[in-house]
Formats: sequence, structure tokens, C-alpha cells
Amino acid sequence: VNKSIEQMLEIPFRYQVHFTRNLFASENLILLDVVRPEGKRKPKIIIALDHGLLKARPDLSSKMKQYANDHDLQVIWPVLELPGGESIKQSTAAVEQVLEAIHLRGIDRHSYVIAIGGGAVLDAVGYAAAIAHRGVRHIRIPTTVLSQNDSGVGIKNAINYFERKNWLGTFAPPHAVLNDLDFLDGLDDREWRSGTAEAVKVALIKDRSFFEELEQLAPKLVARDRVAMERLVFRSAELHLHQIASGDPFERQSARRLDFGHWVAHRLEFLSDYRIRHGEAVAIGIAVDVTYCRLAGYLGAIECSRILTLLEGLGFNLWATELACDLEDYTHPRSIIRGMEEFREHLGGELTVTLLKDIGVPFEVHEFDLPLLEQGILELHCFSQRADLTPASLAEESGSRPKEAALV
Ligand SMILES: NC(=O)c1ccc[n+]([C@@H]2O[C@H](COP(=O)([O-])OP(=O)(O)OC[C@H]3O[C@@H](n4cnc5c(N)ncnc54)[C@H](O)[C@@H]3O)[C@@H](O)[C@H]2O)c1
Ligand SMILES: [Zn+2]
Repeated sequence: VNKSIEQMLEIPFRYQVHFTRNLFASENLILLDVVRPEGKRKPKIIIALDHGLLKARPDLSSKMKQYANDHDLQVIWPVLELPGGESIKQSTAAVEQVLEAIHLRGIDRHSYVIAIGGGAVLDAVGYAAAIAHRGVRHIRIPTTVLSQNDSGVGIKNAINYFERKNWLGTFAPPHAVLNDLDFLDGLDDREWRSGTAEAVKVALIKDRSFFEELEQLAPKLVARDRVAMERLVFRSAELHLHQIASGDPFERQSARRLDFGHWVAHRLEFLSDYRIRHGEAVAIGIAVDVTYCRLAGYLGAIECSRILTLLEGLGFNLWATELACDLEDYTHPRSIIRGMEEFREHLGGELTVTLLKDIGVPFEVHEFDLPLLEQGILELHCFSQRADLTPASLAEESGSRPKEAALV
């Protein structure tokens, strides 16, 4: 009596990630090619724009209008101006605003929703585009280092919900991604630096030679060398795309290599009320995990030292007071270690955290030695406070040093 029919769907996804400059110059045809009509009907387009970007680039609206006129694009004006930064992900307001625009302006599954901005705006608009009509075409134009080299080129979107990072979201490959490197000139030093942590992350899990290249490029990156940043963005985006395609794009398994360093990062963002930027939190998360790797004997002291030195060389502060909160009490509501359980819940299944055996050689663990992790956090505190200490000298000391550091 029991019957079953096995249904099998294989759907290839393909999208282009373009790298360009001066995207809205009339002679730049990349955007035009991406929205070129398939039939006679010209597709409608709506545009959602990051307000922080507009402040840095007040000429942008008029340039876009000119471009649309020159190429006879059917943009439904005005653009939707959305607040930039994490606050946009903290409520459903922006998502509802985009949904309403999609509805009122008659955007269908052959129309386009273009999002221009940082990772937070792209995440919120991407989520709205993915759920409207079960998914309308979505074009991303990332404008920060982090969104160009990581978040904007992938297939995920989300907003924060139940006080959890990225709780509400979907996997939805974009129609296309257009990276205009000129946008990065408008970033302040902090945002310019923040996204470089994701490049270090992807180098550590995939490509030792890219890590070495980043060591060479670090002084130029700090000096805001555009060519060095162009290289970082391109190679990091390429490695992220490769990992997504070759791994487990819809994250059905528990391992999630691109989330290396992120169990601490997401928790720090939350505990600091998003004072710490995502990229800054990732740098600290990497520092915690590689220090732990060294103490646990997975990673050599020299490699650990190189990683911390590169992060510091890029200008990251590797300590945050939130790390110290109730380190002894793992069940305390503000304990950093609770981030591990939240990380497990988000991915589902058994706790699976990516760690390193060497630069470019990742592996997974399913549990942590918590006293050792605590020791690693204390060491990181000492390292970031005492200029005379190097990670290697800490490695020699670590066996004997008591927990004397007064954490602040
Ligand atoms: N979907 C994913 O796969 C994924 C991956 C990694 C990170 N993320 C998310 O990305 C977000 C972080 O993104 P972010 O680092 O781009 O920061 P952000 O989006 O918070 O932007 C930072 C600030 O820069 C401003 N800004 C944007 N472009 C600008 C420009 N060209 N010039 C001047 N100012 C500009 C914004 O208004 C904002 O104030 C986090 O919410 C994180 O969770 C998502
Ligand atoms: Zn990240």
C-alpha cells in the first residue's frame, strides 16, 4: 500500500560578477547588458540606495538618472533611500519598504530590483527581493570592501531577528553582481579596513599564496593604495565564489568553512550592540581561533604569529572588552562562549567549527577545550596590551603563566 515517487530537481545557477570602474558612465555598458530585454517588453527597474553611500557620493543620483536616460532604461523613480549600516537589519521596516515599492511600482519576476550599498543594505534588499513574488530578479551593486569581496558576491541574504544575527533570510543567487571599485574611495579608513578581514579569512582557509600576498600588500593597503585593494577584492571574491560553488552552497551540511572566525564575530557584534563592525569582529574572531589552535597544538607558533601580525599590520585591534565578559561562567547571558551554541543552532546539527592546521589548511572540530579557549582569550588580551610581547614569546610562556591579567 505504501507508495513513493522520488522527485529530483537539478537547477544550475549561473551569474556574472563584474569588476569595473565608473559604472554609471554613459560609455560603460555593463549594467545595460545585464538588464537588456529578452523580448519586446522593456523590464522595469527599481533602485534601493544606501544613504551612507549617497552622503559620500552626492552626485550619484544625477549620474544614475543620466545613465538611465542615455540608455532608455525603464527605471521607476524615485530611488528608495535606505539607512546604511547594521540598523537596517535590526527591524523589518526596510524590508517592508522595499516590498511595498515592489508591489506599488508593479515589479514582477521579469523586472529588476537593484540594490546599491554596503553589505547590510544588500542583505535587507536581497531578502525582500527573494520573498516578493517568490523571488524577483535582483542585481547587487556592492559599495564597501566587505560587500565587494565577500557578502555581495555570494547567494545569501538576511536580517536580524529574535536578537539573532541573520535569523531571517534565504539562499537566493543574484541575477548579477556589479563591483565598481571607484565606490571604495568614499569609505572612511575604518570601513576601508574592515572588509580586509574577510580576505584574510578566505586566504587562511583556501590559499596560502594569497595569504603571503596579503602580507606583502598590507602596508600599501593601510596607505589606501587602490591597486592593492583592487587585487585584494578580486582575489577574495574569486576565492569566495569558488568555495561556494565547490562546497555546499545551500549549507545543508554542518561545516561552513567561510564562517571561519565567525562564531566569535557574530557574538561580538551582538554583545557590542553592533559598535564593532562585522569585519572588525571577524579579525578578532580569527585571532581567538588561531590562538586556540596554537594552544591546542593544531597550529605552529610561527604560523599563529604570522596571522596575528598580518591582522595587526592591516590596522585591526585584536581585543574587545566584550571578550572578557564572564569568561569563567560559560552560562552567563553575556558570555562570549555562548556564541558557540548560537553558531551551532544557526547551522543546525552537531557543533562544527572550522579551525586551522596550517595557513591554507582548514579542518573541522566538534568541540572545544573551554579552559584552553579561555587561556587563549587571556593571551590575546596580553598580546594586544603589551607591545613587548609577540605571539611567539607568549607561546613559550603560556604553559606556566597564571591567569593574572586583569581584563578590562
Ligand atoms: N550575505 C552574506 O553572505 C554576508 C556575508 C558577510 C557579511 N554580511 C553582512 O554584511 C554586513 C556588513 O557589511 P559592510 O561591512 O559592507 O558594512 P555596512 O553595510 O554596515 O556599511 C558600513 C557603512 O558604510 C556606508 N557605506 C556604504 N558604501 C559606502 C561608500 N562607498 N562610501 C561611504 N560610505 C559607504 C554605509 O552607509 C554604512 O554606514 C553585516 O550585516 C554582515 O552580517 C553578509
Ligand atoms: Zn563575514
